[in-house]
Amino acid sequence: MPHDDDAPPSRGLEAETLLTGIAELVTPDGPGPHRGPAQGRLRRIPDAAVAIACGCVDWVGPAGSWRGSAVHVVDLGGRAVVPGLVDPHTHLLWGGDRYDDLEARLAGEPYETILARGGGIRHTMRATAAADRATLVRSGRGRLDGLVTSGATTVEVKSGYGGTPAAEIASLEAIAALAGDVRVRVLPTLLIHVPDPDDRDGHLRAVVERLLPEVAARGLARRVDVFVEASAFTVAEAERVLRAALALRLDVTLHADQFQRVGGVELAARLGARSVDHLEVSGPEQIAALAGAGGRTVATLLPGASFELGTPHAPGRALIDAGVPVAVGSDLNPGSSPVYATSLALALALRLNGLRPAEALTAGTANAAAALGLDDAGWLGPGARADLVVVPDRDARALVAGLGGPRPLEVWAAGRCVFPAADARDGWTP
Ligand code: NIG
Ligand code: FE
Repeated sequence: MPHDDDAPPSRGLEAETLLTGIAELVTPDGPGPHRGPAQGRLRRIPDAAVAIACGCVDWVGPAGSWRGSAVHVVDLGGRAVVPGLVDPHTHLLWGGDRYDDLEARLAGEPYETILARGGGIRHTMRATAAADRATLVRSGRGRLDGLVTSGATTVEVKSGYGGTPAAEIASLEAIAALAGDVRVRVLPTLLIHVPDPDDRDGHLRAVVERLLPEVAARGLARRVDVFVEASAFTVAEAERVLRAALALRLDVTLHADQFQRVGGVELAARLGARSVDHLEVSGPEQIAALAGAGGRTVATLLPGASFELGTPHAPGRALIDAGVPVAVGSDLNPGSSPVYATSLALALALRLNGLRPAEALTAGTANAAAALGLDDAGWLGPGARADLVVVPDRDARALVAGLGGPRPLEVWAAGRCVFPAADARDGWTP
């Protein structure tokens, strides 16, 4: 449960914008990762105000303690405010659709069988290769907007529907174009998704010798992800790629334990990965391996995928109880997790992974930011980015209690209202 807070009074600050009329401000108490009981411990300021300058939070505290001046004062009318959500795992840039796969799965064919016969991820790779960049960016933008209207202000976007080094570079360039076109923060990740079935070793050599150095040199991504699974890469193959990434000073993360335990979680703990994602079939040994890593590696749960595919749900409760920091993401993609709202993923984590509302808020804010290596997002306090959600309720839990709603009243990124568009706010633009 949140604990009430006594913030120090402001000392004559000059804000560009002062947000008032905040029934309660609820936030993790600083950057993540927060683990164990701390994951559920939120700072709560009733009748709060937030002062914003240069896109960052200058001050938060009880409205009655504000002693500064502000150019603009915005009254939020008695709503709760929480930090902007951070979606740490999406595949939102893709071409084509997966409706035939959905029909096949509904008729009983497993996701992995569809993948093995060249459908699934491989189908999306062909459709993505056939799409032109403008179409990819436009459809990605629409999906991103959906996440933003659910409260997301930082969104990770993976490549991975490319396959060849050239196609992965093209995907990362399209993600960069998308990032340059929006006011929320988009963080690209290079995903090495599935091997070339005809030449596994040649594929890996090209990744290690050509793709990773080019991505690092051009700054196209700061993180590298590998799908470790019986139907994708082995632990040894992933280790080869991820060690090469670490040597280039890139962060690493893994898709692991989605269908079978093949050692991906243990590899993540061994390498000190920023995060390890999925964990649907993880058991006590995997939880112990992450707990032994001392909170360095965040466990990112993707309840949309287990909901969609009918797999076991990741052991969120046991991970938190073991002291592992837990984040939650939408995993937005056309196959395993067509979840178009970050807040819906948090709401599913309450039902499917055993998280409590306060733990889910931390999972979708400070811990998700930590999974991405960010310390300036996912919390509200001096120095953090002024990314926040105005919840259409006096109680912050409303954002994670409902399934896909109620939608935020407003979403602010770097001190500006990005949803609804700023001009929708009575013509007022800060
Ligand atoms: O996180 N499992 C691997 N990758 C994605 C699915 C991508 C897809 O099905 O297109 C995931 O679930
Ligand atoms: Fe994924």
